[in-house]
Amino acid sequence: MAATARTRYDIVAMSLHWLIAALLIFMLFFGEGLMKEKGGGVLGPSLHISIGSTILVLTVFRLVWRLANPPPAYPARLAPWEQMASKATQLLFYLLLIGIPLTGWLATPKFLSHEGAMTGITVFGALPLPAAPSLGLPMKSFHELMSNLTIALLALHVLAALKHHFINRDDVLRRMLPVKDPDRTRS
Ligand code: HEM
Ligand code: HEM
Repeated sequence: MAATARTRYDIVAMSLHWLIAALLIFMLFFGEGLMKEKGGGVLGPSLHISIGSTILVLTVFRLVWRLANPPPAYPARLAPWEQMASKATQLLFYLLLIGIPLTGWLATPKFLSHEGAMTGITVFGALPLPAAPSLGLPMKSFHELMSNLTIALLALHVLAALKHHFINRDDVLRRMLPVKDPDRTRS
C-alpha cells in the first residue's frame, strides 16, 4: 500500500473525518439546548453525554489510526506557510476534540449538584455516568470556551477548503472526498 504514494486520505480516515464532523457540528449548535432541556427529563443530557463520549472514543481511535497511517503528501503547489497553517489547525482540532469531552465530564459534578434530578443520566441508556473528580475549577467555562474556539476554527477550516477548491482549483478538498483519484482518471 505504501509503495504507490497516496494522493487521498484512506477510507477509514475519511469516514471518521465526516462522521465526527457531523456529530460535532450537531453538538456545537444543539448541545447547549440538550443540557438545558426544561421539564426535568434526563433524555437531553443523556444524549449530550452519549454523543460527546462517542466523539471522544472515535477521536482517540482516529488519532491512533492516523499515527499508523500517515496522511497523504500535500499538493506540490501548497506554500510552506499553508502547510504549517494546516498542520496547526489539525493539531488544535485534535486537542479540542479530546479537551471538550474531558472538560464536559469534569463539569458534571457541579451540574449534578444543581440538577439533583439528573442523577439518572446514562451513556446510551446502558452505562451510568462515571463519577468525575471535583477540581474546583470553572470546568463549564473551559468546556464552553473550547466549543466556541472550535466553531471559529471550523469556519477557518471550511473557508480554507472551499478557497482551495474553487479559487486555487487544487486537490486539497478532493483529498478528503471519496471521489475518483483525479490524477488517475485523467488520461
Ligand atoms: C464534543 C463534544 C461536546 C460538545 C461540543 C459540547 C458542547 C457543550 C456546550 C456548547 C455546552 C453549553 C455551555 C453553556 O452553558 O454555555 C455544554 C454544556 C455541558 N456539557 Fe458538553 N459538550 C460535549 C461533550 C460533553 C461530554 C462528553 C460531557 C460529559 C461527560 C459534557 C457535559 C456537559 C455539561 C455537564 C454541561 C452543562 C454545564 C452546566 O450547565 O452546568 N459535554 N456542552
Ligand atoms: C467540526 C468539523 C470538522 C473537524 C473537527 C475537522 C477536522 C479535520 C482534521 C483533524 C483534519 C486532518 C485530517 C486527519 O487527521 O484526519 C481535517 C482535514 C480536512 N478537512 Fe476537516 N474537519 C471538520 C469539518 C470539515 C468540513 C465541513 C470540510 C469541508 C468543507 C472539511 C474539509 C477538510 C479537508 C479538505 C481536509 C484535508 C486537508 C488537509 O489534509 O489538510 N472538514 N479536518
